[in-house]
Amino acid sequence: MILVVGSEKGGTGKTTISTNLAVMMAQNSEGGVLLVDSDPQGSAMEFNNVRDEEGHSPSMTCVKITGKSVASEIRKLSPKFDHVVIDVGGRDTAALRSAMVIADVLIVPFLPSQYDAWSLEHMDSLIEDAQGFNPDLAPLLVMNKVDTNPQIKLADEARKFVKDLKNLKMEDLRLANRVAFRRSAAEGQTVNELTKKDPKAAGELLRVYDEVMKNA
Ligand SMILES: Nc1ncnc2c1ncn2[C@@H]1O[C@H](COP(=O)(O)OP(=O)(O)O)[C@@H](O)[C@H]1O
Ligand SMILES: [Mg+2]
Repeated sequence: MILVVGSEKGGTGKTTISTNLAVMMAQNSEGGVLLVDSDPQGSAMEFNNVRDEEGHSPSMTCVKITGKSVASEIRKLSPKFDHVVIDVGGRDTAALRSAMVIADVLIVPFLPSQYDAWSLEHMDSLIEDAQGFNPDLAPLLVMNKVDTNPQIKLADEARKFVKDLKNLKMEDLRLANRVAFRRSAAEGQTVNELTKKDPKAAGELLRVYDEVMKNA
C-alpha cells in the first residue's frame, strides 16, 4: 500500500498524520514500512530520528525525496516494503502530483475553517488530473484539529462546503485538537504508544487507519 498525505497548506497535520499512520502500519506488518519525507522542512525525518534515538520499536526506514522524482524513486523502493507513507510538504506541488500518480490512497487533511475549505477546491481538481493516470487513487478527507467544544460549529459548516466537491468526499474522519497529537511528534511515537495515554486520540486515529487499510 502506498499512502500519500498531502495538502497545499502548511500546518494542517500532514506530518502528524503520516508519521502516526506509518508507525501503525509498522506495528501491523512483517515486511516493514518506508516513510518518505517529501517536505524540504524534513519534519517526518526528524520524527523518525527521535524514534530511533529513543529506541522505540518497530523502527521504520526513512528517506528524503522531493520534487518530481518522487514517483520514479518510490517505484524502485516500494517492492522492498509492505507499505510506503509519503509526507508531502505544503508547497511542493511537483512532489504532490508525482506522489498522487503512484499512490493507492491520498489523505487530505484540512482544518475546519472556511478559508481552508476553499483550498480544497484546487486539491479536488489536482485529484481529477491524477486519476487520469491513476484511476484507482482513493482520496480521503480528514478534518483535523476539530474543536472539542461542541458549541463551535465550524466543523458542520466545513462539512456543508465539502459536499459540493467532486472527488473529495467526507467520510467524517476527524481528529480533535488534542495534546496527545502534539506530544506524538516530540516523542517520536504514535498516540497509541505514548506513556500518557489518550484513548480518544488513539480511537480517532484508528478510524483513519482502518479507512486507509480498506484500500490495501
Ligand atoms: N489533532 C491535533 N491536535 C493538536 N495539535 C495538532 C493536531 N494535529 C497537528 N497538530 C500540531 O499542529 C502543528 C502542525 O502539524 P503538522 O503535522 O506539522 O502539519 P503539516 O505537516 O501539515 O505542516 C504541529 O505543531 C502539530 O503538533
Ligand atoms: Mg509537515
